Amino acid sequence: MKTAILCSGGDCAGMNPAIKYYVEASLAAGDTPHFVHRGFEGLIDGDIRKVSYADVAGIVARGGTIIRSARSERFKDPAARATAAANLTSHEITGLLVLGGDGSNRGLELLCREHQLRGIGIPATIDNDVTGSDYCLGVDSALNAIGRCLDQIRDTAASFRRAFVVETMGRESGYLALVSAISSGAEICLIPEIPFDLDAIVARMRREFEGGREYAIAVVSEATQASARLVSRLREEIGIESRLTILGHIQRGGSPTAFDRRTAFEFADAAVDALRDISRTASFLGYQGASITEHPPGAPVSPLPETLMERGQRLAN
Ligand code: F6P
Repeated sequence: MKTAILCSGGDCAGMNPAIKYYVEASLAAGDTPHFVHRGFEGLIDGDIRKVSYADVAGIVARGGTIIRSARSERFKDPAARATAAANLTSHEITGLLVLGGDGSNRGLELLCREHQLRGIGIPATIDNDVTGSDYCLGVDSALNAIGRCLDQIRDTAASFRRAFVVETMGRESGYLALVSAISSGAEICLIPEIPFDLDAIVARMRREFEGGREYAIAVVSEATQASARLVSRLREEIGIESRLTILGHIQRGGSPTAFDRRTAFEFADAAVDALRDISRTASFLGYQGASITEHPPGAPVSPLPETLMERGQRLAN
């Protein structure tokens, strides 16, 4: 059987190990794996090639994705999806594996439904916000990258009397910010899932600085759009020197952690099995309760468990 893999949306550490294990598991099963370069954009353009073990040698420790990714506006057009399906058919490819987020899953589902292809999605985004999975590939690596930055910021913050506001990624999700705040011992955390009260935070910080606090660290999700506001309120209302650090794309790069490499292996193994099952159309893999699961489209699962939410409430007020 001939199958293909592509990466879509924001890249993340863990994609390369997943690509490697997909190729190895496919070849071991007697299938013929292919790469689609540049996500759905490359699929529309026919940027597809057959691959072998040599193509994935030495990539397991590399961040990003060797097959590159894209955010494809064109794929929203049914005519472009028809071209993409024809490109797969011209290589006799009947199954497609997509690494990406919810948007990528939606694209895969449409493609499979309209053109009778088999598809399987692996949740892969540092935002950890894919429906039906409480863990996405790349999240552990991003958390470790953010954690290293926060430890370094603490060194300089502790050398002055200052407040540091550190903005993390997460387009609509506060998972990275909240878990990073908890695991780095931050004093404040703002995420979109928990209502926050800047008046209460400023009052708390004033009390604490007056009571002898020397420095403070706030972790703020980009989705709140509140980091600049928090910096100026701390500076102007408490009179404490305050600095803003936007971590940006540094969070997405770097070598995948052991956990992301292991999860990539489990996801890729399950994906190759799923693509071999001719009774399926599109379905999506998830990671729930430390196991790989499979579910139909829909079925939301919260990546923010109660224990984290409780701690988050205290950091947001
Ligand atoms: O991949 C997810 C993500 O990193 C979000 O956290 C962030 O908002 C967005 O992608 C950034 O997108 P881009 O890399 O296109 O600037």
